[in-house]
Amino acid sequence: MSLPPPRHENCPMKTVYVLNGPNLNLLGTREPATYGTVTLADIEARLKARCGTEGLTLEFRQTNVEGELVTWLQEAGKAGAPAILNAGAYTHTSIAMHDAIRGAGVKVIEVHLSNVHAREDFRHHSMISAVAAGVILGFGALSYDLALDALIAQSKNKS
Ligand code: DQA
Repeated sequence: MSLPPPRHENCPMKTVYVLNGPNLNLLGTREPATYGTVTLADIEARLKARCGTEGLTLEFRQTNVEGELVTWLQEAGKAGAPAILNAGAYTHTSIAMHDAIRGAGVKVIEVHLSNVHAREDFRHHSMISAVAAGVILGFGALSYDLALDALIAQSKNKS
């Protein structure tokens, strides 16, 4: 399947959205053997510091509601900003999110803390990967930092 390039491919990157789906508000106490003990607030603080150094604005959000993620993906697309997306369990089920990424032309890096391919079969399929610019998974909280690194490196290569 070939997709049209993201609509805002040639705009300089000013803002980065980091969108987190269901149950990621529980990071730190949720299944620490799988997800580690770092909280979502810790991840936000790290990314905020890096964005500050790079002169970027960070929009860091979490919701347990699927439709809210769809609305935020559309918002990022409209703003011409890329999104780092950990859609949690909606990764494996959400056609709405797949459609939002395509429809809004938003550049998305899909991230997961855990290596979903080493887990239950129902986690092996992603509705997002086919419409994502890239996928980073299995590095714990570091997956987010690596995604931000990738976006920054790509935006610098362009200018
Ligand atoms: C997750 C993996 C998903 O399968 C799971 O439903 C999550 C977290 C991860 O970051 O490893 O909620 O996205």
